[in-house]
Amino acid sequence: MNSGNFSSNVSLASLRRYKRESEKIACLTAYDFAFACILDRADVDVVLVGDSLGMVAQGGKTTVKVSMDDMIYHCTCVSRGVERALIMADMPFMTYATVDDGLRNAGRLVREGGAQVVKLESGERQVRIVRELSSCGIASCAHLGLRPQWIHKMGDYAMQAKNSGDAGRLMEDAVALADAGADMLLLECVPSELAHRITETVSIPVIGIGAGPKCDGQVLVTQDILGMTGYLPRFAKNFLIGCDSVEAAVAAYVRAVKSGEFP
Ligand code: KIV
Repeated sequence: MNSGNFSSNVSLASLRRYKRESEKIACLTAYDFAFACILDRADVDVVLVGDSLGMVAQGGKTTVKVSMDDMIYHCTCVSRGVERALIMADMPFMTYATVDDGLRNAGRLVREGGAQVVKLESGERQVRIVRELSSCGIASCAHLGLRPQWIHKMGDYAMQAKNSGDAGRLMEDAVALADAGADMLLLECVPSELAHRITETVSIPVIGIGAGPKCDGQVLVTQDILGMTGYLPRFAKNFLIGCDSVEAAVAAYVRAVKSGEFP
């Protein structure tokens, strides 16, 4: 539980200041108390309770089976270990297909799970829910580009927005979501140049994964940077190599993001 000096905790105001002052934002995933404590001690700014837990913690082939109760359970465990970082949590597949569902489920993630920001895989359709969340005082992050919850429709996890038409649409969605009240954007697997343009265009913080070095911050799956998943995405790096503990590897990731050395 947050009990200490509130002003030293990371808030959306801190992230907006980081963006203004060109300080990079370091974000990693956690699904349980032990990892949450390690990330928090290493000064990770944003701890993401990602629905990647469906694959990494539950052993599923995709994220689509993750339920609202799963997310609340894992977010509760993580929130017990975090003192400083901002806690962001994913809205699972089909829990925000209607505005009413989205509002109710986002409210549960905040009230029951302890999330401070809810993340939604987004496009034009999510502009309305983001606006409604904002008007209810719920902070949101719009996740654009590769949307893993869409896997059965997409067929693979390929790079997105490679042609100018798709890139233009993605830019329009990013601007519309920011205008609707999204507090952050997360760009997954989009060309570096497009991610750079979006980051310069919107005033809210933009976190990237496989989106090049010019975003305001970076996120990776913690188990990937520790070489635990048996598969290293092309945009990730094993930070445990050369370190003698998980704590040291996480601290090396934070330093590499903050210094601009990674990616
Ligand atoms: O679910 C997740 O962990 C994510 C990140 C990989 C961005 O969405």
